[in-house]
Amino acid sequence: MESKNYKIKRSFISNEEVKLITEWVDTIDFKSRESNYYITEFSKELKGKSHMFDISDTPLTNYITTFQSASEVHKEELPDFLKSIIKRVADEMGLPTDNSFVQVVDMNKGGKINAHYDVSKEGYINYKCNISVVAEDYNFYIDKDVFEVKATDMYCFEASLYKHWTDAFSSRRIFLSIGFLTPYSLLGRTDEDPNVRLSKRIEKYFMKKGEK
Ligand SMILES: [Fe+2]
Repeated sequence: MESKNYKIKRSFISNEEVKLITEWVDTIDFKSRESNYYITEFSKELKGKSHMFDISDTPLTNYITTFQSASEVHKEELPDFLKSIIKRVADEMGLPTDNSFVQVVDMNKGGKINAHYDVSKEGYINYKCNISVVAEDYNFYIDKDVFEVKATDMYCFEASLYKHWTDAFSSRRIFLSIGFLTPYSLLGRTDEDPNVRLSKRIEKYFMKKGEK
C-alpha cells in the first residue's frame, strides 16, 4: 500500500535483527535530563524510555537531537547490526545520510504517542523511517490517513510536515525511529509549499515556547 504521505515496507527487518535490537535496548544507559516544553508535551504519555543517538554529529543533527530528546544524547558508535539496518533504509529509500540520527524507544503497556509534528530546521524536512521491532499490530495515524503496522514493518514519512500519533498500546512496544534531515528539493518540496510553511511556523512556535 503506497500513498502520497507515507511509504511502507513490510517485514523490513529479520527476526534475528528483532532479537539483537531487543537484547541491546536493555543494555543502553539512560541518563535523564531536564526536558524542554516540546519534549515534555510529546512524551507525557510515552510510559517508557527513549534513547537518542546522534549518528552524523553535525551542527544540524546536534540541534535536532538535543531538542527532541528527553534524555542525554548518545554520541557513541552504534552496534554493527544497527548501522547495517540504517544503511539498508537509506539505500532503499534513497535518503541522504549526512544528517542522520536514530531514536530507540521502549514503551510499556498503556503508552501512546500524542499527536505532534517533529521539529526541523529551515531548508530541511525531518524525514523519518520508523521500524516496529516489538509490538502488537497497531494503527498509525498521519494527517488524514491511517494504516496498520505489524512488527518488523517499516514506514517512512515527512515527520515535520504531517501531524502523526498512535492509540495506547496494550503491551510492550519497541521501535526505531531513524531520522534523515533532507533538503526540501530532494523530496520534491519547495519553500512555498503550504506544508513547508506550516512546518516553519511550528519551528518558530517551539523556539519561542521551549528554549531557554
Ligand atoms: Fe514524530
